[in-house]
Amino acid sequence: MTVEGVKESVTASAPGKIIIIGEHFVVYGSYAIAAAITKRARVTVSGTSGKETLIFSNDMKSKLSEHSGRFSAVKEVVRALYEKYGPPENGIRIDIQSDIPLGSGLGSSAAISVATAGAVSRFMGHDLQHEEIATFAGRGEKSVHGNPSGIDTAASLYGGMILFSRKTGPKPIPLNRAIQLLVVYSGVPRSTSKLISRVGETKSKFPSTFEHLADASSFASLQLVDAFSNGDLPYVGALMNFSQATLSWIGVSTNNLDALVENVLHSAFCYGAKLTGAGGGGSIIALPMPEKAVALLQKISKRYKVAFLVSIPQQGLSLEFGVR
Ligand code: MEV
Repeated sequence: MTVEGVKESVTASAPGKIIIIGEHFVVYGSYAIAAAITKRARVTVSGTSGKETLIFSNDMKSKLSEHSGRFSAVKEVVRALYEKYGPPENGIRIDIQSDIPLGSGLGSSAAISVATAGAVSRFMGHDLQHEEIATFAGRGEKSVHGNPSGIDTAASLYGGMILFSRKTGPKPIPLNRAIQLLVVYSGVPRSTSKLISRVGETKSKFPSTFEHLADASSFASLQLVDAFSNGDLPYVGALMNFSQATLSWIGVSTNNLDALVENVLHSAFCYGAKLTGAGGGGSIIALPMPEKAVALLQKISKRYKVAFLVSIPQQGLSLEFGVR
C-alpha cells in the first residue's frame, strides 16, 4: 500500500530480545520462546540534496554503494527494498542509534534490521504489513548470520513474548502478570553465524541424540507457555535450567557462562538461569523471585558491569514522523 505524501523524516524504533528457551534447536524446526526487552534501536531516515544513500552511526559512516563489511546487514535490507520498489530519486540519510549492547546476544542486529526496514519503507511511501517487514529485515539477518530461524526478527517486530517455530511463525503468549528478568552480559562478544555452524557440526556427529534434544526443547517450550500462564515461576525456572544443560551439551556454553549461571543460581534469589541467544559469550538471563529481583541485581552488579532488570514491553516496531 502506498501512503500519500512522503514525510520529511521517519524514525522507527524496535526492541532487542532475549530467548527464554529453545535457541539453536529452533533453527532445526523446534519451538522456542523469545521476548522483547526494554532496550531499543532507533533508525531515522531523512532526505538529502545529493543522490547517494548514506548510513551513519556514532562516529562511523558509509555509502550504500561501498562494498565494505561496515553496516552490511543494514545495506542488505536497503538493497532488498530498492530491488522491490526501485531506488529513490534523491539521496537519503540513515542514522542508527541503539542502546542494545552490540554482540551481547540481545538482538541488536535484528532490532536495527527491523527498524531500518520499517523506517526506509515508510520514507519511500510504503505502509508494509509486519510479514513484509519481517522478510526485508530477514534479508539483513541472513547476510550476517547465514541460516537464522527468524525468531530474533519476530521478537523485535512484534514485541511482547512469542512462541515461535519456523513452521508456525510467531504466536503471542499472553502474560497475566508482569515478569522481570535479570540480564547479565558476560563481556565476551560472539558471532552468531559461527555458533550456528558449531551446532551444525554437533548435529552431524550425533544426529539421533540431537534430534531427541530438539524434541525435548520443543516440548519444554510448550510446557513453559503453560507454566507462564499458570504463574508457576518455579517450573519456568526449572525449564530454563534444563535448557542451559542442553545448550551446554551442544557446545554453545563456555566456562565463563557456566560460572555466571552458577553464580546467579547460588544466590538462591532466582528460580532458574541460562545463556540467552547464540552463546559462546554474550549474555545470560535469570528469573528472579519477584521480591528478590533488586537484591539479585545489586549482588551481581558488583562483579559484572553490564547487568540490568528487564520487563517485557508489548511494543515491537514503532514509527514516528518528523521534520528535520
Ligand atoms: C540467536 O538469537 C538465536 C539462534 O537460535 C539463531 C536463530 O534462531 O536464528 C541461535
